Amino acid sequence: MTKELKEPQLDELLALARKAAENSYSPYSEFRVGAALRLANGEIVTGTNVENVSYGLTICAERAAVARAVSQFGPKVRIAAAAIVNLNGQASPPCGACRQVLAEFIDPGAPVIFPVANGTRTMTFSELLPLGSEMKLK
Ligand code: THU
Repeated sequence: MTKELKEPQLDELLALARKAAENSYSPYSEFRVGAALRLANGEIVTGTNVENVSYGLTICAERAAVARAVSQFGPKVRIAAAAIVNLNGQASPPCGACRQVLAEFIDPGAPVIFPVANGTRTMTFSELLPLGSEMKLK
C-alpha cells in the first residue's frame, strides 16, 4: 500500500528533518540530507549526513539518526515513523544500506516519507524493504 497523501502527523517530522539537514557536513557532494525518527516512546530524534574525504566512510542521515536513537534510548528503541528531507530539491529515498540498518528497529508498518521527483512519497517500511525483519540468527 502506498499512501499518496502525507499524513498530518508526518509534517512535524518533515520540519525537524529539514532542520537537521541544515547541519549537514557534506563538503564533497554538497547534498544536504536530514532524517527524523518518531520513536514508539514518543520521542523524536534526528540525524544528518556526515561525509568523509574517504568517500566510503560517509554516514547517511538515516543511519546517523538510528545511531543517535540507540545511543539515547538504548537497544530496545523502536521506530514508529521516519521522514527524510534534502535541501537540494532532488529525490532521495533511503539507500539500501540505510533500509537494512533501519530494519533492526523500525516497525514494518511504519510510514516512511521521503522526497520524490514531484514532492514527497510515503511508503510503509515493509514496502521499502520486503522481508526486512525476517532474517534470524537464533
Ligand atoms: N545521503 C543520505 O544521507 N541519505 C539518503 O537517503 C541519500 C544519500 C547522503 C550520503 C552522501 O553524503 C550524500 O547524501 C550523497 O549521496
